[in-house]
Amino acid sequence: MGAGLSVKLTTMGIRPHIVILAAGQGKRMYSDLPKVLHKVLYRPMLHYVLDLAQELPHETISLIVGHGEEQVRAACKDYAGIGFFRQEKQLGTGHAVLTTRDFLKPKGGSVLVLSGDVPLLKQNSIEALLAKHVQSKAAATVLTAQLPLPKGYGRILRDAKGQFSEIREDADCGEQERAVMEVNAGIYCFDGSVFWDALAKVTPANKQGEFYLTDVIALLRTGGGVVQTSTLNDAFQMMGINDRMAAADVEGRLRAEINLEWMKKGVTLEDPQGTWIDALSRLGRDVRIESGCRILATTLADGVVVESGSRIVASEVGRGSVIKQGSYIERSRIGTDCQVGPYAHLRPETSLAARVKIGNFVELKKSSMGEGSKASHLSYIGDAEIGKDVNLGCGFITCNFDGGPKKHRTVIEDEAFIGSDSQMVAPVTIGRGAYVGSGSTITKNVPADALAVTRAPQQNREGYAARLRRRKKTSE
Ligand code: UD1
Ligand code: CA
Repeated sequence: MGAGLSVKLTTMGIRPHIVILAAGQGKRMYSDLPKVLHKVLYRPMLHYVLDLAQELPHETISLIVGHGEEQVRAACKDYAGIGFFRQEKQLGTGHAVLTTRDFLKPKGGSVLVLSGDVPLLKQNSIEALLAKHVQSKAAATVLTAQLPLPKGYGRILRDAKGQFSEIREDADCGEQERAVMEVNAGIYCFDGSVFWDALAKVTPANKQGEFYLTDVIALLRTGGGVVQTSTLNDAFQMMGINDRMAAADVEGRLRAEINLEWMKKGVTLEDPQGTWIDALSRLGRDVRIESGCRILATTLADGVVVESGSRIVASEVGRGSVIKQGSYIERSRIGTDCQVGPYAHLRPETSLAARVKIGNFVELKKSSMGEGSKASHLSYIGDAEIGKDVNLGCGFITCNFDGGPKKHRTVIEDEAFIGSDSQMVAPVTIGRGAYVGSGSTITKNVPADALAVTRAPQQNREGYAARLRRRKKTSE
């Protein structure tokens, strides 16, 4: 529905200039990190707003930065087409928008203001606001909602006829006004031909001594413009994040919504309240996720099972694979019908073909394993290329690091069998079908089909232990 509406809006010529407010410190977070970079479901809250801006029809996107400017800019590096505007001192939301005036006023058109700390808004809610704005040729359209607990938000004040009159900030409200439950979402569409001049007239005559963007709306109305509201049915979409309690609320809300969507599409969540799936992950049918898992920026194909307490980040898991309890997987690709864990650690650039088995306490890094290969117990596999149907015994270790600065590769060709407790001092290659005897430290290449053993020969001294015990006893 959202996409269809946006096509219609575009053809009607509504492509607003989007301005996103993100210069504030977020005093109420008590944090060294700029507020808009605080994470909601493992992503900076600003990213949700930037995604929304890019989905909406628009002419330009301007981001107001100030507090922690460098960090905020760096967090936007993957977003194209954003203009940055610096607000030197954070003197209020009205003052913030003013930084774009010289750039935007000459362009005319309409201005859509979004807030960097309101991350749950959906595209169709904003499109409804834009449509209403255009149809009624308004000077300003304000997004509002009814909140049972309106504390902290600007209240929408109306006259006796129910017409919008102004927005009063929480800090400036009297007792009666405080009881008003209709609140300002902090999202507005303005008609640029009247907005910029009105904005320049806003003064900081209020309790907080700030230039409130909200005051421009009353100015537009008294100047004779049409000012109206667009009301959200789903009030939670407008939740703003000012402190960590709100951050937890918003995250809980988003998490529940995402989990519900996946359950509707055929995913079993053993414990929906104890499952974290971020907005970037994609899950297939009959995926089953147990309690306490984090699935972040990850794709799980049909039938994948993730057992409790596992964390999978920026990875792909193929059809039918099972990730057993307590595994940590990062930037890796897992083929179909693999078994990983319990307690396995797949570090970045690990790639497993089909039917690979990785057992408990096995760590892989920058390594690939071919079809049907196994490392079932207690291993470190780094910078290695392991072929098909290779068996790596318990305690297999690649010695890939020469103490600095280099990392070296280990190659183990198809069908090789490596006995337990063996070390590969890389660079080294084990040929196809070769055997390595247990307890070997391999420093030279092993030819195909050979057996390599480096163990010191065993010596048995008959009666030695018994003699030692007798000697101990007589000396006591
Ligand atoms: C604002 C609204 C309030 C509304 C609420 C909705 C004003 C005066 N009040 O209040 O009516 O109910 O949002 O969430 O607008 N910012 C700047 N520069 C500044 C000040 C703020 O860029 O000088 C940015 C902040 O980083 C933030 C956004 O503007 O992303 C909103 O500022 P914030 O201080 O959170 O406003 P609220 O008190 O929530
Ligand atoms: Ca806010």
